[in-house]
Parts: sequence; structure tokens; C-alpha cells
Amino acid sequence: MPASSLESIVSLCKRRGFIFPSSAVYGGLGSTWDYGPLGVELKNNVKRAWWKSVVYDRDDMEGLDAAILMNRLVWKYSGHEATFSDPMTDCRNCKSRPRADHVFVAQKGREPKGLAEINAAIAAKELKCPKCGSTDLTEARPFNLMFKTTVGAVDTGDDSGLAYLRPETAQGIFVNFGNVLDTMRRKLPFGVAQIGKAFRNEITPGNFTFRTREFEQMEIEYFVKPGEDEAAHQAWIDARTQWYLDLGMRKENLRQREQDRTELAHYAKRCVDLEYRFPMGWSELEGIANRTDYDLSAHSRGPKNPDSVEELRYFDQEQKKHIVPYVIEPSAGADRATLAFLCDAYEDSLVKEPSAEDTAKLRELVLSFGKSVDKRDNLDAATKERLGKAAAEIADGLPGTLPRLLGLSDDADANRIEVFKKVRGVSDKLGEEYTRTVLRLHPRLSPITVAVFPLKKNEPRLVELARGIKRDLQAEGLRTVYDDTGAIGKLYRRQDEIGTPFCLTVDFQSLEDQTVTVRDRDTMTQDRVSVASLASSLRAKVK
Ligand code: GAP
Repeated sequence: MPASSLESIVSLCKRRGFIFPSSAVYGGLGSTWDYGPLGVELKNNVKRAWWKSVVYDRDDMEGLDAAILMNRLVWKYSGHEATFSDPMTDCRNCKSRPRADHVFVAQKGREPKGLAEINAAIAAKELKCPKCGSTDLTEARPFNLMFKTTVGAVDTGDDSGLAYLRPETAQGIFVNFGNVLDTMRRKLPFGVAQIGKAFRNEITPGNFTFRTREFEQMEIEYFVKPGEDEAAHQAWIDARTQWYLDLGMRKENLRQREQDRTELAHYAKRCVDLEYRFPMGWSELEGIANRTDYDLSAHSRGPKNPDSVEELRYFDQEQKKHIVPYVIEPSAGADRATLAFLCDAYEDSLVKEPSAEDTAKLRELVLSFGKSVDKRDNLDAATKERLGKAAAEIADGLPGTLPRLLGLSDDADANRIEVFKKVRGVSDKLGEEYTRTVLRLHPRLSPITVAVFPLKKNEPRLVELARGIKRDLQAEGLRTVYDDTGAIGKLYRRQDEIGTPFCLTVDFQSLEDQTVTVRDRDTMTQDRVSVASLASSLRAKVK
């Protein structure tokens, strides 16, 4: 079973150095995260696997790394200045600020025709605050999601230095279309791939790294002749789906969802979302859109755009005329893909059952924790509901739910409740003895590929050989670490938890015949392999 709760993933990420809450020493900054030593390796591996698949393994793609700060006119002509916004309303009663279009859909059962219809419904008191039920809502106003900044040493107070942090990497590709076409002598169809940060002042960030205000995108703009767009679109939908599956994602957790007409962005002819079954439900992982000729036309000099100095078009030798290519855009999130691979790979299980007495004691403590949650005045209703539900489900399912309880151990709200310390006192001890957590990441994604241990750390000959193997494998390009800080069993457990596919143990036999044991994370089998053939045999398994 992949992770059933996001808490388990958050807890593992914090405990083992994948992802930390950002600026924690100053109390943090909501929904911002820092990738730690293992997280940065994992995310880099995801990005590398994407780049290899969409650039190196194909003949029709180029790479690009455009600037985050761009001329403001890019965002004027892309449409972002006018339309990249969410309609927000304020509840005068409880002071919450829900998205007005979501309230409309939830309460009227259909999409609104526009801001005017939402505001007519608010004025007629037909919409209620989703939090407190009041109909005392303010007129909905568009809230632009782009972060503003000022370029230059002096803030003049007007808009002359205004710039935006890009909300998508795509526009950097469109405005470089001519540069890539000319310098790389490309013929249609061809595409440009880019990985980079994007920023959106999201109203409702959350679910760990799923929706944040600063995130990384992996985007492709694939340029085709009009008329060839539909086949190219379908080919990209298939290729991108296969990429996730080839990296080990479970088929039953990945699906394609066709956007219906009301959802389509104004520029899109068709869009298919790849969705992953996250612990909080099916959610978008990547969107693959047919953007027609909208973007290149929008940025080309012409009656609608007197500011551009270029015509972004292509001379078609067959037709002997200029055409504006259509664009297929597979747009993925590096953070979201990383989170999905983590959820999919995560597995925790009871390796043996604790005694009935220990289980009963723990159940009693969890139930009393659940009761305390309800009595707390300083927790909001949503947190009370979340923790109360978790406590009831965990108590009901013990001892099988012990791994899930361990996932709660880093939950800041749970830790504010005194009795939770007692829960942890028992659960941490039982967890250590009775549970096993494994990240079954594809070996190409694992932060560390090989861990090398000497059987005894106070035996210099074993240590020297083990350190030498570490150095040699690392020099061969396999991410390798050396560890002698515990008994072998404990070291295996630690590496399983972070997804290391291979552990090598150097023992006394190694000194005689130059072989080591290679332990496989997934099968837990151990084979003796000669030191001389280690690099080639491991590399073959990582492919
Ligand atoms: N150029 C098209 C575009 O940006 P999008 O659906 O808004 O389309 C594409 O974003 C992908 O970027 C999403 O499928 C998701 O993986 C990622 N993404 C978007 N907003 C995000 C956010 N606030 N936090 C994390 N990832 C996000």
C-alpha cells in the first residue's frame, strides 16, 4: 500500500532530511518548504529523469533556461495581467476569504458565467460562507496571483519599475521561439524543454508541497504545423503517462482526465490532466494542453500587439508561406511529481505484533488524546476534526495503525496536547521494534544508490576496504555513502526508510576472496558479488 496519509510522508520527510518547513527558526512561513540533503537528491533525480526522457532520448527537442524576471509586457500580452486571478469574497461575519467561484459551484451545482453572475448571487443572498454559513459576503473581486517586485535601485512609486516573478516557465519559451528556431536550424515539429522556478500567490496553498507559492515546473512547448496538432497532442499524452509508469509509479494510482469544455483555459483546444491518487484524493500532477497558435500570435508584432518587435512565425517550405505553429504543452510540477513518487513508494508495515497488553495500553492513550482534542480551545474546528478523526481511526485499527500513529509524531498541533507526549512515549518504542518503513523508489530516483557498511567498525582492514569501495563506486557515478554508526540490521532499516536500493556489507570473507554481500531493498535477498564487478552489476540494475 502506498502512503495512506500525508502525515506519514511529512513526518518521514522531516525526520530523515528530505523536506523541512522553511524559516523554522523564526516560526516558519506558511506553506514554504526547504529540500534537505536527501530531498534535493530526489528532486534532482526526478528532474534529471525528465530531462533525459524529453530532451536526450529524442531528436526533436532542445533545452532552455530563461530568466525568472521578464519584461512586464510579456505578462500583458500573455493575458496574465488581466486574467490570471481568482475571484475572492470576504465573509463579514467570520472574516474568512473563500474563493467565490468555488462557493458558487458548490452551492449552485454549476459553473458561473462570470464575475457578474457570482456578484448577482451574492447580492441576492443566494450564496453562503462555506465556513460559518452567513450570507453577509462582500462583492467578489479578482485577486491577481502574480507576485510583484520592483526592478531598479529606486522605487519611484509609479509602475515604471514594476516586474513580476514569473507564474509559469512557459512564456520564457514562447518569447525565445525565434532564437531557438534560428540558432538550432530546426524544422517543425520540434519542442523546447525548460525546468525552473515559478511563483504564484496562491490563496489556498497546502497539502505539503502539493500547492505552494514557490514551486518548480518542468514544461515543454512543442511546435507543430496546424493540422498535425491533434496527433502530436495524443502522442505526448501517451509519452508523459508512460514516463511516470517507467519510473515505477503504480498504474492504479495514475489516470488521465479529459478536461470538459467549461474547464478549458481560453487558449486551449483540448487538455488532458494526468492525475495521481494522493492521500487526499485524485489531484492534478501534470496538464497536457493543445494551446493552438494563441501564444505565438499573442507575442507577435501586429495590430493587436504594437509593442513586440518580432513576428514569431515559421516559413513552411512545402506551402511556400509563413505559418504560425500550434503548440502542445505538457506542463508538469517537479515538486508535485517528487511528492507523488514519495507517496507511491512509501510503505510501512508491522513486521510483528506487539503484545495484547501493550496494544491495549496504547489504544487507551490514543482514545484519551482524541477526547483532549475536542476540549482544546486553542485549536480551530478543522484541526479538531482532523485530529479527532485520526485518533478514532488509529485507536480502532491498532496494532495495524501503529505506522500511521508514528506519522502523527511530527504534527505540530498534536504535539500541543499534553497527553500526546504519553502516546509518543509508548508508540515510539513500539514503532522501533515492530514496524518497518520502506521507500520503494525506482533506483534511478533514490537519493542514495548504494550504502557500504563494514561488519565491524573497529576492524581497520574492513573499514579500509569498505571506504575504498565507497570511493570507487562514487567515482563510477553511483551515489554512494559509507556508514558504520550501528549494527548491520539497524543500518539496513535506516537505508530502507530513505529508499536506498542496495546495501553492501564488507565482512571477513571479503578480505580473503574480494567479494561483498549485496542486499536488495525490495527482495531483502543477499548475494555475494565480486568487488571487481560491483560497479557494472549495480549500474545495470539502476538503468
Ligand atoms: N504553463 C501551463 C501551466 O502553468 P498549470 O496547470 O497552471 O499550467 C502546471 O501548472 C503544473 O505546475 C501543474 O500540473 C502542477 O504540477 C504544477 N503547479 C502549478 N501550480 C502549482 C503550485 N502552486 N504548487 C506546486 N505545483 C504547482
